[in-house]
Amino acid sequence: MPLSLRPVTETEFPTWIALDEEAFGTPIPPHRVELSRRNTEFDRSLGAFDGDLLVGVTTVCSFTMTVPGGPIPVGGVTAVGVLPSHRRGGVLTALMTRQLADLREGGEAVAALYASEAVIYGRYGYGRAADSLNVRIPTAGAAFAPHAPSDPALRPRLVRPADARDVFETIHAAALATRPGLYARTPARWDTLLSDEESDRTSGALRAVVVEDGEGPRGYALFRIKAGWDEHDLPSGELHLRDLFGLDPAAHALLWRHVLDRDLVAHVSANLPADDPLIHLLADPRALRARWNDELWIRVVDVGRALPARRYGAPVDVTIEVEDATCPWNAGRWRLTADTSGARCVPCDDPADLVLPVSALGAAYLGGRPLEALRAAGLARESRPGALRELSAAMSWEPAPWGGLVF
Ligand SMILES: CC(C)(COP(=O)(O)OP(=O)(O)OC[C@H]1O[C@@H](n2cnc3c(N)ncnc32)[C@H](O)[C@@H]1OP(=O)(O)O)[C@@H](O)C(=O)NCCC(=O)NCCS
Repeated sequence: MPLSLRPVTETEFPTWIALDEEAFGTPIPPHRVELSRRNTEFDRSLGAFDGDLLVGVTTVCSFTMTVPGGPIPVGGVTAVGVLPSHRRGGVLTALMTRQLADLREGGEAVAALYASEAVIYGRYGYGRAADSLNVRIPTAGAAFAPHAPSDPALRPRLVRPADARDVFETIHAAALATRPGLYARTPARWDTLLSDEESDRTSGALRAVVVEDGEGPRGYALFRIKAGWDEHDLPSGELHLRDLFGLDPAAHALLWRHVLDRDLVAHVSANLPADDPLIHLLADPRALRARWNDELWIRVVDVGRALPARRYGAPVDVTIEVEDATCPWNAGRWRLTADTSGARCVPCDDPADLVLPVSALGAAYLGGRPLEALRAAGLARESRPGALRELSAAMSWEPAPWGGLVF
């Protein structure tokens, strides 16, 4: 089908929303439409038109995201949808290909997204960079192990979420640097997270607790509780954790004790980083009832700019043959020279030490996916023995990456 591609204007937003409602098969309440409008940078959007009909969309949010070593600009790809009448006709491929070219021209060297289905984006060179543990913890078995940190000066204080937004923003900003994948939240994104209209309350009203000492707040948690009783009249309430940030181990532990100890709550469900300290705090880690899931997907848009933009945990000097069918400017050989103080990445003609699909570089970019593991799966190859282990060690980073909030 002949398609034309151009940004979607703000006046066309109702058509965009109608397309999203069809593509995702669910109505979007009016206040959510307004929040979505305020989160949208229309000049960064891209629509696919079949004649006058909008048949596909995507857009980019301008993020600052923590990567190994510090914050960098990252393009947050979101709002991807294709009209069901036009699916599987190449609309998404046209959008993704143009979007990556646009990013290379004037945008970020790295793109990130959350996928509705994990099979969609690998073909466009995105790599699975972060994992989350989806946990559902029975509160009855959630005692802490001996030696869990505690601080007698620290107290929980219940707050109305709308009244404590400045506390959440300050704590979150202070936590940003602690983990690759975390990204700075704009005011509109906070509005979205804190929205608590009737239709936001399918899991109960939004609630919050702050933990603080005489000096001020050291952490907060945001959650909803869906109350209930089972067939034996035993409490079966479920607490859905939305956000939990403690600035030190004692604050983190007290926040968890608060949510695990709420009366009438039988289960706490949450999405956690793969290495969340809670795993070690619980006396019985089997109580996590964890389900492993993909979280952030990363696309190295421009190898020459992206690889020097992060830090490396060990010295490395390798020539990488990058395979990239969607972004031909990346395909070819690159020499990456890095140590713990900085990195350089330039095109070169040297023989390749290793061969990587660009999706492997994306998967490894935030430090949480060792290239060695991809080699074991047959997704990365070396021609100089030891080169893969060298690059894998240099790109690995702790703690594990995690974005923490779907965009
Ligand atoms: C996912 C979606 C955007 C795909 O759009 P599309 O225009 O149908 O995609 P394309 O026709 O360009 O597909 C390109 C390739 O990806 C495959 N593909 C696309 N979506 C897929 C999916 N959900 N599952 C499996 N394969 C998929 C196609 O089969 C095709 O493969 P091929 O090249 O081997 O033939 C569209 O189906 C949609 O809007 N889904 C509902 C909303 C959604 O999930 N959006 C994504 C939010 S992150």
